[in-house]
Amino acid sequence: MYPGHRIVKMPNSGTSCPIIGLGGWAPNSGEERTTKAKKWMLSALQNGYRHIDTAYSYGTEKAVGEAIVESGIPREDVFVVSKLPPNHHGRVLESIQETLDNLGFKWLDMYLMHWPYAAAYELEGDEPEPLHPDGAPKRVDSPTIAETWAAMEEALRRSKCEAIGVSNFSIKTLEEVMKNTRGIISVKPAMNQVEMHPYLQQNDLLEFCRKHNIAVAAYAPSGYDIVRKDPVIVELAAKYNVTPTQIILAWHLSRNVVVIPKSTNDERQKENHNLPTLEEEDLKKINALDRGQRICNKGDENGLVYGMSIEDLGW
Ligand SMILES: NC(=O)c1ccc[n+]([C@@H]2O[C@H](COP(=O)([O-])OP(=O)(O)OC[C@H]3O[C@@H](n4cnc5c(N)ncnc54)[C@H](OP(=O)(O)O)[C@@H]3O)[C@@H](O)[C@H]2O)c1
Repeated sequence: MYPGHRIVKMPNSGTSCPIIGLGGWAPNSGEERTTKAKKWMLSALQNGYRHIDTAYSYGTEKAVGEAIVESGIPREDVFVVSKLPPNHHGRVLESIQETLDNLGFKWLDMYLMHWPYAAAYELEGDEPEPLHPDGAPKRVDSPTIAETWAAMEEALRRSKCEAIGVSNFSIKTLEEVMKNTRGIISVKPAMNQVEMHPYLQQNDLLEFCRKHNIAVAAYAPSGYDIVRKDPVIVELAAKYNVTPTQIILAWHLSRNVVVIPKSTNDERQKENHNLPTLEEEDLKKINALDRGQRICNKGDENGLVYGMSIEDLGW
């Protein structure tokens, strides 16, 4: 069986997803998020991918929907993930409908709260998310993340999605959201999508999620060239006669972590979807590389990530 088709079960939603998905982020320039994105998403579907990760804020939802329709693959055969942006926390039902309209679909397989904070919704000029002069979003105290979660539960009840989850959540913010506004855990998150790679293994978070049946999905799963060029990874790539990215992704799979590598390139898409099984002693070598290093979303010079302190985030 193609490793990309291995399934991860999500007990909190009763659904499952292919362990390898395609990352759907694209730069916000020219046709990158429209015609070009549709082209490489279509090639990924042709290369066997049946799981695509997008977000309202990526501007690629329309491209995902069009690529799936053009591929001729039935909608129900592709696991589609999208995300609620921070400035839409006060309008969850409207926002998920906008996402569905962008995709041209009736339901999402997974709807994630993109970040554990709410930002102001008012529009200023063309800015979809009002920013402070330093680039940080204008955060608001209301709704709380527990209140936003309750609204996501309502979207689930209305069959707008088959599962709800979170992204960029820590043990601290997961506990906050699971308390629920009514003091009852109605629906636990089915998935937590976080930055994860050999330099940021997040073992405590992984264990917490396992305990609560929350599937973990790794974004920036390759760790980019910083991790790809690690001598241990390079050595293992030579041993298995594969690329460094394949070694890193295979390590994630050994931990039953969902990966969503993004590639616009046909050959690299195939590569990332077809991974070796690593021997125990080699997995141990990769485990030893952990250094708690964030590479994708790291704090700015003030230690803030989108205006949130590392302590607030519980990172
Ligand atoms: N929830 C969040 O806050 C959040 C944050 C960041 C990302 N994400 C999601 O996670 C997805 C993946 O994250 P990411 O794009 O940051 O990281 P990534 O998938 O680890 O890395 C993507 C980069 O690696 C290159 N690449 C891919 N496969 C390769 C291979 N086999 N060999 C060499 N280079 C390769 C790609 O270039 P080519 O395209 O040229 O192959 C691209 O530059 C995103 O697309 C997005 O869907 C979520």
